Amino acid sequence: MMTLDELRTTIEALEGDLQQRLATINDDASIDAFRVEFLGRKGRVSQLFKRIGQLDPSDRGKAGQLLNGLKQTASAAFAEKEAEAQGARLAKQLDDEQVDMSLPGVHSKLGYLHPLTLVQREIESIFMRMGFSVATGPEMETEYYNFDALNIPVEHPARADWDTFYIDEKTLLRPHTSPVQIRVMEQTEPPVRIICPGRCYRRDTQDATHSPVFHQIELLWVEEGLSLANLKHVLEVFTEEFFGEGYEMLFSGDYFPFTEPSVQVHIKAPGASDWLEIMGAGMVDPAVLSAVGYDAERYTGFAFGLGIERMAMLKYGIDDIRVFLTNDLRFIRQF
Ligand code: PHE
Repeated sequence: MMTLDELRTTIEALEGDLQQRLATINDDASIDAFRVEFLGRKGRVSQLFKRIGQLDPSDRGKAGQLLNGLKQTASAAFAEKEAEAQGARLAKQLDDEQVDMSLPGVHSKLGYLHPLTLVQREIESIFMRMGFSVATGPEMETEYYNFDALNIPVEHPARADWDTFYIDEKTLLRPHTSPVQIRVMEQTEPPVRIICPGRCYRRDTQDATHSPVFHQIELLWVEEGLSLANLKHVLEVFTEEFFGEGYEMLFSGDYFPFTEPSVQVHIKAPGASDWLEIMGAGMVDPAVLSAVGYDAERYTGFAFGLGIERMAMLKYGIDDIRVFLTNDLRFIRQF
């Protein structure tokens, strides 16, 4: 048997223990130990509830009240400690994950486009705005596309200029982008309006203005009723967009087996005294049109080939072609 007074004394003692234990709580483990000891199913508060039956029945209601009060005190204390611990965990997490906005960033260097790529893209975009599309062909080319189809038969002296790096009897590294004209015309019916950028190879010894590897952009326009006047207009638009306003233009006679007449195009900057040669060009030779199956009575066309290096050198005042290939960062970073 137990009396109500004895129960009160036990509860007071337990409350004393509880306060002491609360004062020592300092981590998750001790919070948990506290919960088990006081609030667990077999904890000290539950044990006391079980003893209510030992009391005189008239005291049991009062005992229940006292024990519920005790249970509430213990639960509230536990909840408070638990909340404190959670707050501390969050604060620590925030602290750990803090980003210091004042630290210097990690600087990753961006690459640069090579000046030749920039110039090629600029030229492409000028002609694309005029309605030309971009076509490409292989750098390793057959003799047929490189010579025969361009009206340069085997014994023709013009082959000597372009007779370059042979890979086997019938295949060579192309010395110009003109073979792309043929490849496109074979696949397309007129009208044809294309530009063909690409790398070319020649048997040149490297010096300030020659390089065995260089780049060209070919242009070809075939349609009914085209004349040199149309070529001149296209070039005037190009010159103004690429170099600027006020340039004069001059055609002088030249010779290419695949154009007739053939011209060399020169431009002169406003106020300058020197003419600068910018490209070879001409009306497509009817023999070339016939060879791809076009009706040369009906269609005419013109073509040109310009050197991308030369355009870049003229535009930026570069006097040595070798700088494009030596990868000197002081040079290529300027673009
Ligand atoms: N293919 C010629 C060269 O490389 C240039 C050119 C192209 C001339 C088209 C006329 C027409 O020199």
